[in-house]
Amino acid sequence: MKAIVINGSPRKKWNTDKALQRAAQGFADAGGTVETVRLYDYEYKGCVSCFACKIKNSKTNGLCAYRDALRPVLEKVREADAVIVGTPVYYSFPTGQTRSFLERWLFPVGTYVYKDGKQVVVRDKVVPTGLIYTMNVPRELMANYNYDVILSDSAKSMEAIMGYNELLYICNTYQFNDYSRYDMTLFNEEDKRQYRDAHFEEDLEKAYQLGLSIGKKTRQIEEEQNAAN
Ligand SMILES: Cc1cc2nc3c(=O)[nH]c(=O)nc-3n(C[C@H](O)[C@H](O)[C@H](O)COP(=O)(O)O)c2cc1C
Repeated sequence: MKAIVINGSPRKKWNTDKALQRAAQGFADAGGTVETVRLYDYEYKGCVSCFACKIKNSKTNGLCAYRDALRPVLEKVREADAVIVGTPVYYSFPTGQTRSFLERWLFPVGTYVYKDGKQVVVRDKVVPTGLIYTMNVPRELMANYNYDVILSDSAKSMEAIMGYNELLYICNTYQFNDYSRYDMTLFNEEDKRQYRDAHFEEDLEKAYQLGLSIGKKTRQIEEEQNAAN
């Protein structure tokens, strides 16, 4: 079983990357293989609304028809047994690159057809997904910004379209190597460091558990499929 891990942060070795590395380790420890893709390595657009995936007798088969640098990534994602996405929160949403990726990945799989009250999806099995957010806002302030609602929306789309999702919020992240170099009254470096030292390892462990759990779920789906065949 293979997972694609999607890093939606522009920063190579920071919070989102660290969380995804641990999630990848969890998936590997469940017996899977992992390939990581950094979205900021690719030049691509979001959905261009061509509707090739919705047209009658569409041949797209769940894959976005638009051809740009994201296409090979989407092909890999379509072949994957599980997908784990990590993104920083930028202005209360996943990063722009992550949103564009989600549009291009999920929209062709979910159709505009409903049968027996359920959306028809273009995939032959449940594909377990994970979504990990990292953000500056502390956990206890998330509700003030309506983040529980806004941020869980992408997870709900992943769950509805791919069949399964686990969501993790990593809050109050440490943002710079040296806070003294930046103009800032909004954050206190000492508070940030203390929070990081007390909690970040715990958060990384949750990311590991998410990867492990997705790995086990993927294994279970694989075994059910084998038993049915
Ligand atoms: C352009 C930009 C916008 C941001 N907007 C938010 C925000 O709305 N809410 C928040 O909690 N953090 C916000 N942040 C902070 C990042 O989400 C946070 O530092 C995150 O952990 C960065 O991930 P990284 O370390 O993988 O780059 C923003 C950061 C940037 C660069």
